[in-house]
Formats: sequence, structure tokens, C-alpha cells
Amino acid sequence: MSLHLDEAARSILETNDLGGYTIPTKGLYPYQWNWDSAFVSLGFARFSLERAWQEIETLMEGQWPDGMVPHILFRKDDPSYFPGPSVWGTHGKPMPSSGHSQPPVAATAVRHIYELDKSPAARERLKVLFRKLLKWHRWFHTARDPQGLGVIAVMHPWESGRDNLPDWDEPTKQIDTSSVGTYQRKDTSHVDPTMRPKKADYDRYLALVQFGREHNWDPYAIATNCPFFVADPAMTFILLRADRDLLALAKELGEDEAATELEEWIARTESGISILWNEDLQAFTVFDLRSGTKGDGISSASFLAPYAGISNPQYIEPMLAHFDRIASQVTYMMPSYDPDHEAFEPMRYWRGPVWGILNYMIAKGLGEIGEDSRAARMRDDTAALIAKSGFAEYFNPFTGDGAGGSSFSWTSAIWLDWVTPTRTAGEA
Ligand code: GLC
Repeated sequence: MSLHLDEAARSILETNDLGGYTIPTKGLYPYQWNWDSAFVSLGFARFSLERAWQEIETLMEGQWPDGMVPHILFRKDDPSYFPGPSVWGTHGKPMPSSGHSQPPVAATAVRHIYELDKSPAARERLKVLFRKLLKWHRWFHTARDPQGLGVIAVMHPWESGRDNLPDWDEPTKQIDTSSVGTYQRKDTSHVDPTMRPKKADYDRYLALVQFGREHNWDPYAIATNCPFFVADPAMTFILLRADRDLLALAKELGEDEAATELEEWIARTESGISILWNEDLQAFTVFDLRSGTKGDGISSASFLAPYAGISNPQYIEPMLAHFDRIASQVTYMMPSYDPDHEAFEPMRYWRGPVWGILNYMIAKGLGEIGEDSRAARMRDDTAALIAKSGFAEYFNPFTGDGAGGSSFSWTSAIWLDWVTPTRTAGEA
């Protein structure tokens, strides 16, 4: 069974590999996506270190001069996807791309690959990637945290990578969609519309793209005037972890100045996360920087604190209580949104379904703070989901049914790197 799934996972990565870069799945997502590539590299690392390095290298080829690494690289035009390059209106960049970023998992992936491949050639590749990653992290700490609060904002739900999260409902409500005009969605022709965002949400997504395009994607204009600017726990925790991983690499490479800069960012974020702490819910939630209000729901990102190296009992004890409460309600952990919240929908995109990559990060963090049995539950559930429904984009937390796209790259990658029982015993 496992061997068969190992082969299937590898074959999905090979099929979705378009030559040095990998698409998430055919049809629905025909381009290179940012955090998808980072996870995908972990899967490749299990059978081709060369290909693992390459995946991150091709991702970084899209880096903008200001350091931003776009969430989509449009390497070849593909009419099956909307909104394509012309809608984004990003000009004069290394290649056609979207105009905002996505969670920076890449530095963490690079550290992982380097641990597996410390050859002299790998060290040279690491040096080049290190400079680019540092520049990208610096962009996050300035463009998306212009006040130096120690929390990272997103200017678009798509930037968060958790596109249709209920947490974005309130902050997107006041977005003016009157000039969006008519357009033809493509996602609902690939996937059942009940699993995808509704039209009103899509209008707001496009209005935000329009805002970015009209302001030339300028970080200052975005931070000052974008109608949507929300501090996100996933973005903040993922960057905090990635900063720590980059710091370890800085020390390895003797990059002292960079190490000092990274230490400053880490210290600032460690104290900044208190802004995301919701005293009423006893959990980390989003914080709307425009309205000054906190989100009213717990999402899978609320469980990423340990992944970010946070082990303070004041945060961790309530988090574990929420974990157990949710675990007792669902068959498969971790739903993307709290099943006790009224906005929860088990089959709709980021409003309830389980994502393997979130499970991977949550479990990694839990393991690192010694929560082995909860980490094991995450892994067992992920294994059961994939065994039942294959390498789907996401899964129903009650039935385990697969949803969204199929033959999905990052689900295959985390199978190879983390879930498969054929992985060497004892490895993280
Ligand atoms: C969806 C997800 C996003 C992901 C992309 C490609 O847009 O919300 O996180 O990167 O699909 O898999």
C-alpha cells in the first residue's frame, strides 16, 4: 500500500513537473505557485536533490527588484486560468507574475534540503539562494509591517494562501466592487462550484487586484491605502520560523551582518505576536489593521505557534485545549476552520476542509515542543485521508472525501517527506 502510494506521489510530481518548476495540478492551477513550490521541493528531495534545489531556484527567478517573490509565476500563458497575466498588469519584472506574495516557506525548505545535501556544490547554491531569501524576508518586514509591529499583514486574501477563509469576510465587506465589471471565472469550470468561493468574494478579490494594479503594486501605497490590510497569524508564524531557519543558515555561511538583522526581526516578531492573541477566544486570530479589530474565529493557523518556535505555556496550554476540543469533533484533523464557528463549511475551500500542508506544519511544531501524541494524530489522520481519497487538494474533515483539484503536487510532496511509513524511522 505505502509503496504503491510512494510511487503514485512521485509520479504526480513528475507529471506536474513542467521542466524545472512544478504546477500544483493540471487545469485548475497551470502555473508555478510560490508556497506550493516550497513544499514540492521537500517531496523532490526524497528522490532527487538536484530537482529539489531547482524548484526553489526557479521560484526565486521571479523575484522583483524590491525583494518581493510573487505568488504566481506565469511562465507560459495558459488560457485555462483566470486571472492571468494581463489582469495583474505587472510590468518590467523578471517575468510575468501576480503582484503580491504568499507565505514564505522557501527558507525553511532550503534549510531542509541543505541538511540532506551538504556537498560543496550545494553550498554554492545555498549562498546564492540565501541572499535572495534574505531580501525577500526584508521585504516582508518592511512592506507588510511598515510600522514595525512584529506582525505581518496581507493585502489580499490570496496573499495569505488561505484564500477563502471566513476571517476575511468582515475585512473585505467594505471593498467597493462597483468597477470590477464582467469577467469569466475559470476555476468553477474545473471544480464543483460548491467547493469554491462565491461570486461576491470573487468580485472583492478582483477589486483588490485592480487596486494593486492601479497603484503599480507599490508597497507604500498598499500599506497606506489598500482597503484590505490584515495581520495574519499564518503569515507571521511561517515567516518567524523561516527567519529562524535563515538565521541557522546565516551562521553556517558566516554571514554575521545578516545574522544580526535576522535576530532583530525574530525578537520583534516574538513580542509582536501578542497583537494577534485574542484574549476572549484564548487563541491567535487575525487582526484587521484598518479597523483595529480582531477576528472572531479559530483557524488552522491558530495552531502554528509551535512551528514558529513559540513554546510559552500562556499560549500553548489554551491552544492544546482547543486542539483537543476540535479533535473530539472531527474524524480527520485539522479542519481549516473551527467546526464550532457558524461560518464553518466542511467542503468549501478554506472554510473547513483539511489541507495536508497545514497538517504538516502543525505536526512539525507539535513534535518540536514534545507533543508527540498530538503530532502522531495529525500524521495518522493525514495518512488515512490520502489512503482513502488519494492526493486531493483538500479533504472533508468528517467523511475524508477528497475535494478541489486532484493529483495535487503538495499533497504528494508531504506524503513523501512526512507521511509515508516507508520514511526512515525516527526522522522528523
Ligand atoms: C489555492 C490555495 C493556495 C495555493 C493555490 C495553488 O489558491 O488557496 O494556497 O497556493 O491554490 O495550490
